[in-house]
Amino acid sequence: MDLPEIGLGTMGIEESETIARAIELGYRHLDTAQIYDNEAVVGRGIEQADVPREELIVATKVWADSLAPEDVRRSTEESLDRLGVDFVDLLYVHRPIETYDPETTLPAFDSIREEGLIGNVGVSNFTTDQLDEARKVLDSPIAAHQVEMHPLYQQSELLQYARDDGHALVAYSPLAQGAVFENPELQEIATKYETTPVQVSLAWLAGKENVVSIPKASSMEHLEANLAAADLRLDPEDYERIGGIESGEKLFE
Ligand SMILES: NC(=O)c1ccc[n+]([C@@H]2O[C@H](COP(=O)([O-])OP(=O)(O)OC[C@H]3O[C@@H](n4cnc5c(N)ncnc54)[C@H](OP(=O)(O)O)[C@@H]3O)[C@@H](O)[C@H]2O)c1
Repeated sequence: MDLPEIGLGTMGIEESETIARAIELGYRHLDTAQIYDNEAVVGRGIEQADVPREELIVATKVWADSLAPEDVRRSTEESLDRLGVDFVDLLYVHRPIETYDPETTLPAFDSIREEGLIGNVGVSNFTTDQLDEARKVLDSPIAAHQVEMHPLYQQSELLQYARDDGHALVAYSPLAQGAVFENPELQEIATKYETTPVQVSLAWLAGKENVVSIPKASSMEHLEANLAAADLRLDPEDYERIGGIESGEKLFE
């Protein structure tokens, strides 16, 4: 699975036209989840867009209350129904909590993959110990690990793990839900390139091997600006400088 550098986070998007516009602008990786309660919106957007389904990477996530094996299958079938697709390219364990039991949850992911309901298995919000355990139990490779990642929370350990294992690290909340706008160093670097801290943050992620990001945006202006950030090349000294602004503070536990 070849994930593009910039995908679309859809949490909070309630208009299918936004999804359709994003696809027509060039977004090819769409990230939703059962808990966002908008899979049907994403599905309608896919249907409305003038781009074939095969060109899209559709990802969703099984919520923490549906990780018992029978619920993995049932809830995934319901997700496919809402999305209006025969299979999703990527299905994540959203969080390893509540009904998550690696010994039973993960074989259920393997079996729906064998049956063709999903193309790839992903995990989200895992620690390195949980990744070790998952890799032992799963027959499928872990295709992607989705975690909070942005210049203020850089995830060096999970990035090294992803590179060693060969999976993609999918950076969620890559704009720290707005906090990157306020960072004075990102603002300075943005001035140098005549751009914004948003584009600098996304370019920084896009330039990292094994990393892709999924900023959420609703306006045409934001959708366009974020996609264009993949073309911004930062100088090595700016990479280094951003490497030094880690705050250690994250939005999500
Ligand atoms: N796996 C998980 O547990 C998990 C957790 C959280 C999020 N996620 C995924 O990650 C995606 C993104 O994270 P997020 O939604 O938390 O936050 P985010 O992408 O860091 O930030 C989204 C916010 O930034 C604004 N924005 C986007 N582009 C902008 C631009 N060019 N200039 C100025 N503002 C801009 C958006 O405004 P507008 O909407 O007004 O454009 C929105 O308010 C989610 O949608 C979801 O798919 C996954």
